[in-house]
Amino acid sequence: RSAPPSTLVIFGASGDLTRRKLIPAVASLARHGRLPKEFALVGVARTPMSDDEFAASIRADNGLGDLAGGGLRYVSGGYDDPETYKNLATLLDELDQQRGTRGNHLFYLSTPPQAFTPIINGLAGAGLNRARTEDGFARLVIEKPYGTDLNSARQLDATVHSAFEEPQVFRIDHYLGKDTVQNVLALRFANSIFQPIWDRSWVDSVQITVAETLGVGTRGSFYETAGAMRDIVQNHVLQVLALALMEPPASFGAEALRNEKVKLLQAIRLPTDRDVADVAVRGQYTRGGTRAELMPGYREEEGVDPLSRTETYAALRLDVDNWRWAGVPFYVRTGKRLPARVTEVALTFQRPPHLPIPGNQLTELEADALILRIQPNEGISLRFGAKVPGHSFRVRTASMDFSYDQTFQEESPEAYERLILDALLGDATLFIRTDEVEQCWRIVDPIIEHWANDKSPIPTYEAASWGPSDADRLIGRHGRSWRNPA
Ligand code: BG6
Repeated sequence: RSAPPSTLVIFGASGDLTRRKLIPAVASLARHGRLPKEFALVGVARTPMSDDEFAASIRADNGLGDLAGGGLRYVSGGYDDPETYKNLATLLDELDQQRGTRGNHLFYLSTPPQAFTPIINGLAGAGLNRARTEDGFARLVIEKPYGTDLNSARQLDATVHSAFEEPQVFRIDHYLGKDTVQNVLALRFANSIFQPIWDRSWVDSVQITVAETLGVGTRGSFYETAGAMRDIVQNHVLQVLALALMEPPASFGAEALRNEKVKLLQAIRLPTDRDVADVAVRGQYTRGGTRAELMPGYREEEGVDPLSRTETYAALRLDVDNWRWAGVPFYVRTGKRLPARVTEVALTFQRPPHLPIPGNQLTELEADALILRIQPNEGISLRFGAKVPGHSFRVRTASMDFSYDQTFQEESPEAYERLILDALLGDATLFIRTDEVEQCWRIVDPIIEHWANDKSPIPTYEAASWGPSDADRLIGRHGRSWRNPA
C-alpha cells in the first residue's frame, strides 16, 4: 500500500501534535517507501516562517529529506483571513503543475477546535473544498475534540457539511489506528472459536481500562475544558467498546463496519440524570506518589484553576440493551496519574454451573477471563483454572499468554502513520462517521451535565493510586471488583 500522488496540508503546523505525531508519521511513511515522488507537504499556521525555516523546524530529527527541493512548503496567515486560502490555492496549483500531485489534496486540521470553523469556511471560500482536477480529491481530516457535546458537534457538522460531503470527511480517533485495536477485529472475526462464547450466556462482565501514569503536563488549560469524559471516554473508550461488542460485519468496508459500530452504540442504554449517581463516578488526582517521586495534584498543574472541578478520572457502568448483551454489565474507566499505563479489554466468564470438586479447594481460583492488552505489552491472555501438581485435587489460576513481540517480527506502524496513509488512500474504515460521534455524545452528555450541576466536592484520589474509592463501590455493588492490571 502506498499513497497516490498528493499534497498533505497540515493546519496547525507549528503545534504540538504536528511536531510529536504527524511529522514523524509522514517521515516514517517516506522512509518505508509509502509516499510517491509526487508528494508534497504544506504547513499552514499563523507564525511567520519561510519554507526553509519550516523545513528546518520539522526535518531536524527525521527522514523527510526526500521532500527537499520544493516538496516542503509553508503558508503563514490568519485562519480567518481569506488571503491565507488564496495563497494556499495558488501554491497547491503550482505543486500540482510542478510536482505532479494531480489535484489530490488532503487537509488536516490539527489546530485548537476554535479554528475548525474559520478554516473550513476559508477552504470553501477559495474553492478548495472541491477537487481541482477531474479525477483529483479534496479531503478533510479532523482531529478531536469533535465538539464538546451533542449540540456543538452538530453545529460543527453543519459547518463541515456546508462545504464537504460526508465521504470527504475523515474524523480521527487515533486509537483505531493502533494495531492491537484492529486485532480486536482479527480475534473476533478471523477465528471461529471465540464467537460462540462472546455473549450473555458465557460472559459475566466486561472491563475496559484506559489508564495513564502521566498527569496533564503542559495541556492544563486545554484539559480544563475537557476532562476525562470528553478527552477519553467519548471517543477512545467507546470506540474500543464498540469494536469489542458489535455484531460481525459482512465486510471491513467503511460502511459495513461503521454500521455495526453505530448499531452497538445505539443499543447502549442512555443514562438519565437520576441514574448518574448509580452508574458513574468521577475523580480528580491530588498530590501523591512516593517521596522519591512526588507528583503534584491536578489543581497545582500549570494552566489549571486552583479550584478546578474538572475530572481526571471517570468510571462508568454501561448496559447494552440487545439480545447478545442484555444483563451483562460493562465497566469502563480511565484516568490520569494512575499507577500503570495500560489499556485493556477484559472479559470475565461465568463460573461453571456445577463444581465436582469441594469448594474450599477452589479458593485460589479466579473466574476465567480473556484479556486483550491494547498497550503496552501488547498481546492476549487467557486465564483459566489448572490442577496444581500433587496428591490433592487443587485448582489454581493459570494463564496462556500471546505476546505480539514474541510472535511477530514485523514492526507496528504508529497509529497516525496508518491513519494518514488510509486518508490519502480514501479508506474511511478506521475513521469516525458523523452518526457515531453524535451517539457517543448522547451517551456521555447526561453524565457530564449532571456533574456540572452537582455542587458537592469532586471526589479525589492520590496521584499513583487506582482512582477514588467511589469507583470500588460502583463495581462492588454487584459483588465484582476492578482488575488491577500490572
Ligand atoms: C489523547 C488524549 O487523545 O489520547 C490524551 O487527548 C491522552 O489526553 C492520549 O494522553 C492517550 O493516547 P495514547 O496513544 O498514548 O494511549
